[in-house]
Amino acid sequence: MKSKIKLRIDGIHGILNSLVKVLAFESNIDIDRHISKGLYMKLLFSNPIRTIKALAGKDLNIGYADVVLTTVCTLKCKGCGALIDHNNNQCHYNVNKIIETLQHLLEAVSHINRIHLLGGEPLCYPYLYEVMSFLYKQEKVNIIGITTNGTLMIKDKRVLKLLRDKKFQVDISYYGESVSRKQTELKQQLEENHIKYILHTKGSNWIDFGGFNRRNKSVEKLYRIFTECPFKWCRPIFDGKMFRCTRSAHGSELGLIPLEADEYIDLSRDNYPSGKLRKELYRFLYTPPIT
Ligand SMILES: C[S@@+](CC[C@H](N)C(=O)[O-])C[C@H]1O[C@@H](n2cnc3c(N)ncnc32)[C@H](O)[C@@H]1O
Ligand code: SF4
Repeated sequence: MKSKIKLRIDGIHGILNSLVKVLAFESNIDIDRHISKGLYMKLLFSNPIRTIKALAGKDLNIGYADVVLTTVCTLKCKGCGALIDHNNNQCHYNVNKIIETLQHLLEAVSHINRIHLLGGEPLCYPYLYEVMSFLYKQEKVNIIGITTNGTLMIKDKRVLKLLRDKKFQVDISYYGESVSRKQTELKQQLEENHIKYILHTKGSNWIDFGGFNRRNKSVEKLYRIFTECPFKWCRPIFDGKMFRCTRSAHGSELGLIPLEADEYIDLSRDNYPSGKLRKELYRFLYTPPIT
């Protein structure tokens, strides 16, 4: 019962957090991932109409979404959240389908504050430039990140040029000198091209999610685990769908776990014609399934 209430409160937090990120961006306030309580409240109270519209689902903002371009990767990290270490059929997702899916999603929402392009390894994706340039032109998208593992440099000159725009940021995951072996050269390349980047070290942030055996946890316990997951707002998008959880999305793709109907939303136009998608997204994103 307690966890069910927490899930509902989580949904309201999700709505307000997403709106605050968008409002901060519009006010040129660089909050990145942290914001003080005072500033948070100030932003909401100085925009009461947008706050009410957001709570009612009329102004639909997404704080953060991951776009999975590929499951091809230069590494096979044990315990990878995208389950690349379990994937023997790595593939690139169809670029036209990715752009069509994003187009339809963007018609339904007011803003997406931050989209991250990842995989697998996004620098392996042959159509990275095409996806980047599509997103670059979208006024509803505020920030575009590319998360890379530090094993590759950027070969495509068009990608390098576009990345110079302030809308972009590169996130380098650093897995140690011997693994992220091109990290120093990549950093140098980004600096020379005046491209914003952040370096993340694996360290204690690496989570062991365990295996895929059924653990027979109670529904109450599952709710609690979900509300405490640091990645619960990741919202991975691939294969025309937006999922609640990266691990369950890739787990079901690989046939390791069943895909339940309430764990994803099919973003295709055939499924939700324009106009209907906004309402469904609001339900999917901010009112988690409670049985
Ligand atoms: C799935 S990776 C894809 C991008 C790229 N290949 C990389 O490793 O940076 C996206 C992000 O998820 C993080 N990640 C993957 N598995 C994780 C885990 N088990 N615990 C914590 N972070 C994880 C990675 O460090 C990376 O920052
Ligand atoms: S580099 Fe990234 S995508 Fe590749 S296996 Fe490691 S965490 Fe997963």
